[in-house]
Amino acid sequence: MEVDMKIQDEKVRDVLRRIEVEDEQERVWIVGPEVGELLYDLILELVRADEGHEGVSRKLTCLEIGTSVGYSAIWMGSAMRGGKLWTVESHAERFERARANVVEAGLEDLIVQVKGHAPEVFEDASFGIPDELDFVFFDATKYEHASYFDVVFPRMRAGSMLVVDNVISHGEEMADFVNMLKKHPQLECELHEIGAGVLVCKVSSLSRPARQGHSA
Ligand SMILES: C[S@@+](CC[C@H](N)C(=O)[O-])C[C@H]1O[C@@H](n2cnc3c(N)ncnc32)[C@H](O)[C@@H]1O
Repeated sequence: MEVDMKIQDEKVRDVLRRIEVEDEQERVWIVGPEVGELLYDLILELVRADEGHEGVSRKLTCLEIGTSVGYSAIWMGSAMRGGKLWTVESHAERFERARANVVEAGLEDLIVQVKGHAPEVFEDASFGIPDELDFVFFDATKYEHASYFDVVFPRMRAGSMLVVDNVISHGEEMADFVNMLKKHPQLECELHEIGAGVLVCKVSSLSRPARQGHSA
């Protein structure tokens, strides 16, 4: 029902629905429609951020770690208006299934699939992962998140968003990482108690800690 409300393109809705059914038959660990819709809304918020000034949509650079078969990537790609989403997957069979799903959804011009393991993929310039990112989604191996963050955070622009899945379902395993994010002076984080628990962190400008301590 949510898919009907948000996604206008019938072929995209059909692909998302089919993946939801496949996930019930053999787990491919998709985020599901509620979190898919949150990702869609967050991307759209950034896309529309400049519309008031220029009358144009922003072309975002986005990154996902953990494509699986492309479900969340298709939600995010559907909200984008130009730009690119780089999505990283190390599992060969899921990578190929994602490719077929992205093509069937008609989003292959927006979604760049990276076959490899994070964070090592960032060392390979041939993947073309950009140095400046507007939106990042972590949905891969939980204990590796800090290693993704170390590489990705320096690439995140002021005003960008970092979204982390599984912060409730894997609360104990992710506690240190989540606490670090919540205490980080350049992040403002909000927990969404949907799906497996999603933390949405907005990146403030580099000058924020200095401004806070400034008396003028
Ligand atoms: C939870 S699933 C992703 C689901 C997907 N985001 C969705 O909602 O449609 C996690 C995926 O991340 C992949 N993965 C785990 N650790 C990875 C890493 N370090 N680098 C690349 N892929 C990884 C796994 O193979 C798995 O397919």
